[in-house]
Amino acid sequence: MPYGLRLLESLLNAGTQVFLLYSQAAQIVVHQELGLTLPTRAREAADFFSARFGAAAGQLRAFGREDWFAPVASGSNPADAMVICPCTMGTLAAVACGLADSLIERAADVMLKERRPLILVPRETPLSAIHLENMLAVTRAGADVLPASPSFYSKPATLDSLLDTVVGRVLDQLGLQNKLMPRWGEGPEGKGEDS
Ligand SMILES: Cc1cc2nc3c(=O)[nH]c(=O)nc-3n(C[C@H](O)[C@H](O)[C@H](O)COP(=O)(O)O)c2cc1C
Repeated sequence: MPYGLRLLESLLNAGTQVFLLYSQAAQIVVHQELGLTLPTRAREAADFFSARFGAAAGQLRAFGREDWFAPVASGSNPADAMVICPCTMGTLAAVACGLADSLIERAADVMLKERRPLILVPRETPLSAIHLENMLAVTRAGADVLPASPSFYSKPATLDSLLDTVVGRVLDQLGLQNKLMPRWGEGPEGKGEDS
């Protein structure tokens, strides 16, 4: 969840319009991992995150699990791109099978059928043959699997800078310029262990 919240903050800071697809699982995991108690209603979650990250009025909208009136539920109104961050193995499997049991699954299915960018950010480890086959299936269908594998060449000194080594790569895939992480060849890497 820290990756997901940092991504949300970065997208809002970049001035993009964000539709947050708000699951109950996210509320449980964010409480476990960050000690944050989030509102149960999607609309209140939008208010909560807008205030927390300083979003402009209307910049962030949130939709619940079965909010089928959300624009992204239809191929007639798909988003420019979609990121599932973090992506559980359950959600990965649902996307790989083309299920539409929740708004997240339906919106992902819409992105694939409309040939729009869909990025899945799993953090599971280790991976079973089922997980790997599902990753191959979604990749073949046009999605990008971008595992939450932080990098260390920039010697991140804080948890936030470690998160940014993953979130920066997500923004790169979305075509959003960012300076969240030092670029290879432009930082202290290669100077050896004394640097
Ligand atoms: C603290 C916590 C961490 C979890 N981490 C993962 C994880 O990294 N990967 C995963 O596939 N499931 C993980 N789970 C299990 C999922 O949250 C659970 O299967 C959930 O129902 C998935 O819902 P979703 O498929 O709608 O995302 C975690 C659960 C908890 C409580």
